[in-house]
Amino acid sequence: MSYTTVSKRDSNKPVLHDYHPAPARFQEDILVGLRKPQRQIPPKYFYDEVGSQLFDVICQLPEYYPTRTEIELLEKYGEEIAQCMGVNDILVEFGSGSSLKIRLLLDNLQPDAYLPIDISKAHLFKSAKILAKDYPQVAIHAICADYTHPLILPKNFKEGVKSGFFPGSSIGNFEPKEALQFLKQIALLLGKGSGLLIGVDLKKDADILNAAYNDSQGITAAFNLNLLKRINRELQGNFDLDSFKHNAFYNDSKGRVEMHLVSQKKQTVSIGEYIFEFQAGETMHTESSYKYSVDDFQKLAQAAGFYPKQVWVGEEALFSVHYLCL
Ligand code: AVJ
Repeated sequence: MSYTTVSKRDSNKPVLHDYHPAPARFQEDILVGLRKPQRQIPPKYFYDEVGSQLFDVICQLPEYYPTRTEIELLEKYGEEIAQCMGVNDILVEFGSGSSLKIRLLLDNLQPDAYLPIDISKAHLFKSAKILAKDYPQVAIHAICADYTHPLILPKNFKEGVKSGFFPGSSIGNFEPKEALQFLKQIALLLGKGSGLLIGVDLKKDADILNAAYNDSQGITAAFNLNLLKRINRELQGNFDLDSFKHNAFYNDSKGRVEMHLVSQKKQTVSIGEYIFEFQAGETMHTESSYKYSVDDFQKLAQAAGFYPKQVWVGEEALFSVHYLCL
């Protein structure tokens, strides 16, 4: 009856689970990171409200090929991917952001439930509500959590075949050792008989990589500098935004793009009651984005207990999407 459909559509409100990491964590992570000999800021802190929006803009930049290429692969091979993944009851996405890519899978996969996990609460909950309206037949449980820490899924979602989705080459943010740990953690969460669809950026010509992280509109620079705005606002910092510059480059020996914020002069910065002295040219390392060959990545996946079942690579070998089984 159409009556039933209408009421179901109206009632498809996402369930929102807030596992939010303690706010004290942000301060602690920043203070610890800035005291290291090579100062560091964990990249997960990019994604406040403004940072998440800037990231969405980055994904549409002409130089930033990963998003576009991954979407092309998901569109082109959608049916093949769904076939490869088989029956799925529960689809779990790690770092779901605006939940746009999942739309390319939902029609083909038709899971009972979709569980987006993201650290940016407002952005996550807003996206979950929009998605629920468009996919009335899928139960949506949005989980606000830091997926880099082990987590437990909401109680009523322990049964059924699970699939993981980890797009965008976010795996590249981890140091290779951490990436291995993370994949093992996902394997444990998903369990035997499940699988993981994961997007991984490929090693390629350094010029393409350098352009992707130094866009001509300066959006990536704004995204990087937004970290300092966030520290100023949330941790009572006094970073002078004009005295730090964005710097991003491909480090060939490490196989990664590095992003830094470079102090333009000798200066003192306070964060709450804590004082930091910066030398001219001294940097804060804000992100590593590791690039893998297909072979490198399959070896890593195998070391974590996955069986690499299939890989899809775009025509110019810019990006790869792997399906790994457990
Ligand atoms: C979301 C981590 C995959 O490393 O390419 C984009 C983040 N940083 N531009 C990446 C990012 C600068 C992105 N990941």
